[in-house]
Amino acid sequence: MARIIGGIGTTHVPAIGKAIADGKQNDPYWKPFFSGFDAVHKWLAREQPDVAVVFSNDHGLNFFLDKLPTFAVGAANEYRNEDEGWGIPVSKTAQGNADLSWHMINGLVEDGFDITMCQEMLVDHAITIPLQLIWPNGDWPPIVPISINTVQHPLPSMARCLELGRSVGRALASYPRDIKVLVIGTGGLSHQLDGERAGFINKEFDTHCMDQLTADPEALTRYSIPQVVELAGAQGVEFLNWMAMRGALTGTASEVHRNYHIPISNTAAATLVLENRPRAEKRKAA
Ligand code: DHB
Ligand code: FE
Repeated sequence: MARIIGGIGTTHVPAIGKAIADGKQNDPYWKPFFSGFDAVHKWLAREQPDVAVVFSNDHGLNFFLDKLPTFAVGAANEYRNEDEGWGIPVSKTAQGNADLSWHMINGLVEDGFDITMCQEMLVDHAITIPLQLIWPNGDWPPIVPISINTVQHPLPSMARCLELGRSVGRALASYPRDIKVLVIGTGGLSHQLDGERAGFINKEFDTHCMDQLTADPEALTRYSIPQVVELAGAQGVEFLNWMAMRGALTGTASEVHRNYHIPISNTAAATLVLENRPRAEKRKAA
């Protein structure tokens, strides 16, 4: 059975890709952000995941407003990136694990998630940037990408995304191979890229969300999507990817690392590592 070692939440701002390409990790603007990954690298060196399940939102590279699945699961053995127009180099191709993808797709559909299954899928900066941040030496494990619509309203609710993650967690628990899985949720935290509130950031709400993600994720489901837009900005709804990541941690989740830095581009940049420990089995009556 697959073992879920934990989850990572991370921002996916494209400008990070340009900073990496230009070797600016130690520049004063970037250092407080990049140094937040030192603890991530140490933790991963210990945990050594075999596969990463990545919840993210597509930004028009793969799906556009004309056809936009609420939830889409990649079922390929490789995922290409293409030029997205942000001025960042096209990333190398991410490897997939189609066998694990199909197992998860079966579990999700059995649980009532009418997902779109994608035997071809491009991955955009919402996946390539987090992979570069988490594995800066390029040693990425195979991924299973799961795309959540955070772009075209109506969006799925906070509760639905938490449930999606839980369904992924259950599917992983029934996977017959002994592999270690890392779950990643990308995007956020608070940001708004356009309109009257462009540049909006809400540190108080971001902190509350990160705290509750460990302590009581269910409590976050009381926020409707319009409330999340109000509190976190129009693109702050990318937190839905973090909700799904948290849902997949079906054991006991504890925070092992957090970095929060304002701003990176227009965004409150956050990095969170949650460890997932299997719940102690109920003791049999003596
Ligand atoms: C920015 C943030 C995003 O989430 C994104 O997808 C693109 C750009 C930004 O802050 O620049
Ligand atoms: Fe984004």
